[in-house]
Amino acid sequence: MRKEGISVISFAQGEPDFATPAPIKAAAVEALEQNITRYTPAGGMPELRQAVAEQLSRDTGLSYTFKQVTVTSGAKEALYLALQAICDAGDEVIIPAPYWVSYVEQARLAYATPVIIDTDEASNFKLKPEQLAAALTPRTRMVILCSPSNPTGMVYTADELQALAEVLRPSSAIVITDEIYDHICYNNNFCRWLQVAPDFAERTLVINGASKTFAMTGWRIGYAGGPVAYIEGMRSIQSHSTTHPASIAQYASLKAFRPSDELDAIVAHMKTAFQERRDLMLEELAQIPGVSCLVPDGAFYVFPNITGLLNQPLRDGVTCATSKALAEYLLEKAHIAVVFGEAFGTPGYVRLSYAQDNASLREGMRRFREAVAR
Ligand SMILES: Cc1ncc(COP(=O)(O)O)c(C=O)c1O
Repeated sequence: MRKEGISVISFAQGEPDFATPAPIKAAAVEALEQNITRYTPAGGMPELRQAVAEQLSRDTGLSYTFKQVTVTSGAKEALYLALQAICDAGDEVIIPAPYWVSYVEQARLAYATPVIIDTDEASNFKLKPEQLAAALTPRTRMVILCSPSNPTGMVYTADELQALAEVLRPSSAIVITDEIYDHICYNNNFCRWLQVAPDFAERTLVINGASKTFAMTGWRIGYAGGPVAYIEGMRSIQSHSTTHPASIAQYASLKAFRPSDELDAIVAHMKTAFQERRDLMLEELAQIPGVSCLVPDGAFYVFPNITGLLNQPLRDGVTCATSKALAEYLLEKAHIAVVFGEAFGTPGYVRLSYAQDNASLREGMRRFREAVAR
């Protein structure tokens, strides 16, 4: 539509709209100038793996070595490799819904069976211990947790994680904790799985990366940290597929993963901007009859309930029966892009990203409001 000259405002993107911080860009230039353009070992440069291990040690209070880390082409590859390396056909992978879209497909690609647990608004879209207990079977190989969550922005508290750990302790399930939005949390309530359940270190893979925190989605730098046996399995697959992310991006990421007051200040600035936009987005949503929304504590998404807009004539006399149909209607008639809840396993909702400037956000929401006016 944009190519046809139509002004489309997209709330669909899953990435910060900020530029990558200057010190990281400068390091990439330095990499080019120093001809750091050759192969690195599979799984990344040892010094980068070491920097990530130190970051993980600081984050969790545990002690990581570089052998417990592989650096991947985005957090997505880290997740993919984990599923490929660990899961066999018929293994069950517990995934709470709404989920980030790729978990389910990646489990299927590993011939594992995704076991989806539906959460609801009443529990702030968080997995309840009794739900987890009911889903565990002798075939459960893995549980995937994501906090702050894409798509809901919800953040598990320490108590909530503790309750899940209690349920999992007698099982042998491996935990994948996707912490890619760890630095985008507004209530200072974010708590890491391994801080709460350090006894799970031998069966936990931490997934994270540079994409969201440092506005580096295109650089494709993610990582996994965990037991050497899993990491070695993952690196083995990596060595026969992508080998490693681009050497230039790796070199620049050393800046991102090593402690830096300058970068801390830039990340804090981005977080403040996201929080202001979240509040603006919530204000705008509150003005749309038929839409209600929980207040997300993290990431840069809202996940409003739009069931009040379904099955009744909207502005153009159109009736939408599903959130998918509503998303299509909004794109065609209002020229705004949102992601329908079906993509995250939870119909009746849409996901909107507020990672954009205030003027576009206001204009996009004006279009939304007008398009669904009765
Ligand atoms: C929850 C979650 N995990 C992982 C990823 C993948 O991140 P990357 O771009 O580093 O591959 C995303 C990206 O949207 C995400 O939202």
